[in-house]
Amino acid sequence: MNKDLRKVVIAGNWKMNKTPEEAKKLIEEIKPLVKDAKCEVVTCVPFVDLTTVLEATKGSNIKVGAQNCHWEEKGAFTGEISAPMLKSMNVEYVIIGHSERRQYFGETDITVNKRVKAALANGLKVIICVGESLEQREQGVTCELVAMQTKIALNGVSADDMKNVIIAYEPIWAIGTGKTATAEQANEVNHAIRETIAQVYGKAVADALTIQYGGSMNAGNAEELLAQPDVDGGLIGGASLKPADFAKIVEAASK
Ligand code: PGA
Repeated sequence: MNKDLRKVVIAGNWKMNKTPEEAKKLIEEIKPLVKDAKCEVVTCVPFVDLTTVLEATKGSNIKVGAQNCHWEEKGAFTGEISAPMLKSMNVEYVIIGHSERRQYFGETDITVNKRVKAALANGLKVIICVGESLEQREQGVTCELVAMQTKIALNGVSADDMKNVIIAYEPIWAIGTGKTATAEQANEVNHAIRETIAQVYGKAVADALTIQYGGSMNAGNAEELLAQPDVDGGLIGGASLKPADFAKIVEAASK
């Protein structure tokens, strides 16, 4: 399997952190530290920070993403944001199906699939999150579960649209806990995801797909994780709020 066939993407997920003022400060600190990156650098910020961060990153190598979007274009969906709204702002990426959305906000594989299709139909790139709980890992069903999550999320997505899809494998037990999957565990599941994609879309699409790892990736463990043959980048929570740490991860991905 040739890793050169695919794009390495390091995406920060700021989650529910930073006011617009704080976001401006943080992105201005990050910008010079990642300007020579040889990988793609994305920051996924709260909706209220999008305008500020889009403005601050103009002309830089940092791409901007949102953390969710609704599947309808508009209408009576109080509190929601649609894909055309994001697209109209020049947002490039959107995270869909993060485990925190699944855990705390009733997101299911079916709603993930609806959001993915709406985002792609509106020209956004999606980072689809999949991953198992500790209980599921202990039951030995990780690869099957993640394969199923992946298949449902992509139901009805064309092979052509797969060029705008990234999958992020994020074991729930590793998110925000300081417990990282070992490089072997991360690679095993990422490989299983690639096999699933190969079954559905064929080898060429699978070989070209960026599959990230996420879950306590940090400045210290990034290099080993990113050296794995099937780990093509990272989705970074906590460490993306620390400019020097985020920059180290980008540097590790640029090797
Ligand atoms: P973490 O979060 O890096 O803080 O574990 C990763 C994520 O939730 O995307």
